[in-house]
Amino acid sequence: MTLPIQPNRFLSDLHSLRQFGAAGVGKGVQRRAFSEADLASRRWLMDQIENAGLTPHMDACGNIFGLADGVGPLIGSHTDSQPEGGWLDGALGVIAGLEIARAAKEAGRPVSVVSFQDEEGRFGALTGSSVWGGAMSLAEADALTDDSGDSFAAARAVLGKTGDDVDPARFSGFLEMHIEQGPSLDLSGEKIGVVTDIVGIRDMRITMTGQQNHAGTTPMALRRDAFQALSGFNVLLNDRLRNVVTPQTVWTIGHVTLHPNASSVVPGRVTFSMQWRDGDLDRLARMEAVIRDVLTTIAADCDVTVEPSEVLGIDPVPMDPALQKALAQAAEAEVPGKWRKMPSGALHDASNVAQVLPVAMLFVPSIGGVSHTFAEDTAEADLVTGLQVLARAATSLL
Ligand code: GLV
Ligand code: MN
Ligand code: MN
Repeated sequence: MTLPIQPNRFLSDLHSLRQFGAAGVGKGVQRRAFSEADLASRRWLMDQIENAGLTPHMDACGNIFGLADGVGPLIGSHTDSQPEGGWLDGALGVIAGLEIARAAKEAGRPVSVVSFQDEEGRFGALTGSSVWGGAMSLAEADALTDDSGDSFAAARAVLGKTGDDVDPARFSGFLEMHIEQGPSLDLSGEKIGVVTDIVGIRDMRITMTGQQNHAGTTPMALRRDAFQALSGFNVLLNDRLRNVVTPQTVWTIGHVTLHPNASSVVPGRVTFSMQWRDGDLDRLARMEAVIRDVLTTIAADCDVTVEPSEVLGIDPVPMDPALQKALAQAAEAEVPGKWRKMPSGALHDASNVAQVLPVAMLFVPSIGGVSHTFAEDTAEADLVTGLQVLARAATSLL
């Protein structure tokens, strides 16, 4: 059996979705979870699902499902974006899922589609799928806050009346297509990556408090400068992690708020994000121990107090062998010899869905290996190849 997928309809829907929050040069998007653009795009997606003859359903987190009648594969990803994102990160997996579910409906077969909410972590990390997969309760998610202090509970209140939780037993497995967001496929010229496992992540917010003071009159030796403390922390951390990490390990300080952030004031307080990722659970824990140790050293050296938040995290997750095989066979049939198996250094909703369903993922190339920026892009022919591989794999599961 072949599902009657229509590549042009799929590409046209991808471009339509990009109009919600279109920004920047190229094909950039600003569609933060629960922003006006995100909410408008969710209404649009519900309409597309209805037009496809599937049942639209939004749960309390704002996760959107397009439900087929009968048990079958669930396909999707997320449609929210980073503060400055591209048109494909997440959107590709959802619109591919929509096209395959629509074609399956036309063929009388059950394929459902999903768009999880807040994958990009305005509030936490993969919030919508964390709740759906059971890693976090709705009450725990509600207590999460964004960088401005707004809560997930307040953000989702705008959804009004929402539906019940969707039972994972409606689905036989989960498939997620995504752009690679790294350079491997683009450099090798291969067209498809079949994901073997997804790395684990740890994320925390740290506040360092010193003494706000006059930048002209406070002698250097008497300062308790929060920026100097952060800068010392960063240098010492890079040094101390060297014996713990591998070339695949990554860590990032990506968000910093300095107070009062004025050129003539010794900064009294800094709050920053500290994130680290690795495929090995034990290494993630050893890195946390180093981070805490360095914080203690810096607190003493710079005479600041340090307050680390609770650590949020998602553990490394292997992909289901049978679903990986279905994707590998589909890749070999569509692009013989031009695909590879590879791990994912980016996080994906599949990590959470793996708690309740067998999951697998495939990647298509990212031009120049860039993502989480307006410049993110993929050749449309490669997007269509990904759709064809995904549809073939989904068909083999029906
Ligand atoms: C998800 O976008 C991630 O940060 O890996
Ligand atoms: Mn994504
Ligand atoms: Mn992303």
